[in-house]
Amino acid sequence: MKSIFIFLSISIFVALTSCSYNKTSDISPSPSIVTTCDSVNASYKNDIAPIMQKYCNECHGGSPPSIGNQNYANYNDLITLIDSPNYILGVVSNEAGFRRMPPAPKVQPSLCEVAKIRQWSLKGAPNN
Ligand code: HEC
Repeated sequence: MKSIFIFLSISIFVALTSCSYNKTSDISPSPSIVTTCDSVNASYKNDIAPIMQKYCNECHGGSPPSIGNQNYANYNDLITLIDSPNYILGVVSNEAGFRRMPPAPKVQPSLCEVAKIRQWSLKGAPNN
């Protein structure tokens, strides 16, 4: 009886461990899933304004804005945050000394979106 149990245990172990799937072409991401991030050409109109609309304007947009006295849907108000320190970058990249925005548990901007804000800021935050 004991040897049958051992035999069965070994059989199950072999059955569970012997099967492997080596066809890597099926598990690597297909080109359509891989997204590229073009942060270098970030523009206010095409990138930054939509990011603000998506993550910030619910609280900081509208007239009058529901929070603070600035309306981030407005270019002139927004660029006042790109100074020393750069508040937009500070709050979205959760840098020390800044309050994380949008506040948890809201979804944070993606790495690509933060990279776009960074590149656009480095170019002097043009109204492009
Ligand atoms: C759910 C509402 C909400 C959203 C969305 C939101 N904020 Fe805020 N934000 C607040 C609140 C509340 C404060 C604190 C206001 C205060 O106490 O003066 C604040 C403060 C700030 C401040 C001042 C931070 C500081 O350290 O003093 C900045 C800058 C800011 N938000 C930028 C943003 C940006 C940029 C986004 C989008 C990426 C955003 N916020 C999204 C609610 C929000």
